[in-house]
Amino acid sequence: MKRKSDGEAPRSDHRCGASPELAYRTDFPDEPTTNLPIRNDAPRATKDSAHTSPLREAGMIQTEKPCLNFGETPVGEIAARLPGATAVFRSFKLDYCCGGRQTLASAVEKRGLDLSEVERRLAALDEQPTMGSEEPDELIEFILSRYHETHRRELPELLRLARRVEQVHADHPEAPKGLADFLSALAAELDAHMQKEEAMLFPMIRAGHPMAAGPISVMEFEHEGHGEALEQLEVIAHNMQPPDDACGSWRALYAGLRKLSDDLKEHIHTENNLLFPQFKG
Ligand SMILES: [Fe+2]
Ligand SMILES: [Fe+2]
Repeated sequence: MKRKSDGEAPRSDHRCGASPELAYRTDFPDEPTTNLPIRNDAPRATKDSAHTSPLREAGMIQTEKPCLNFGETPVGEIAARLPGATAVFRSFKLDYCCGGRQTLASAVEKRGLDLSEVERRLAALDEQPTMGSEEPDELIEFILSRYHETHRRELPELLRLARRVEQVHADHPEAPKGLADFLSALAAELDAHMQKEEAMLFPMIRAGHPMAAGPISVMEFEHEGHGEALEQLEVIAHNMQPPDDACGSWRALYAGLRKLSDDLKEHIHTENNLLFPQFKG
């Protein structure tokens, strides 16, 4: 069950004075509501509609420079505002997607890292506005083509490689155990999740449906599970570091898993931190 952590930033006490209000939930339905009617007269989800972008209002887009008080800023907000920050977070294994609401100081402390070193790396990045577009339609198109299609295209091959490596190298002490079955379950879960977004949530967002916040909470809850699955994947696949004597298939498998992990984190970040906050009321 998702919980608000101790390290989450206060909802209305942001140093930049511009943090969007996030609707924290502590109870989540097991299944999303699937049959909400979409009003034909609902406003379209564009920047000129009633859904004026909180990101823009919050100064996360356009001309305002990023707030450099990184320690007290939610990790997801830094990831959304500062180009290149996600790569820095990945290098430190900091969770900026599912754990995006916790402050950087809290996230760093949990991993036993040096906050000043992480802040130094972030400060070295160019301070540029982030989003190419905050338009919901464009974000959704990007999510579908860049992430949904990519996951569906690449997971079957990763599954094939995992089965092969597990079979051929079954006697190798560093061979992954249970990886193919784990990937198969993850692929099925991801596909079901993406189908819900494609068939229900994204059409609601595009139609400006006033009750999109409910399904959004469910999707965020499922994202938590995906983040936990990625952590398990790293354990099963030995940090995706092939042994020195690994064959080409093994190396290709781990390279593909690293890409899957990076893609899925970026995917969740784009939804949790860029798209969903615009529709959470
Ligand atoms: Fe998605
Ligand atoms: Fe999602």
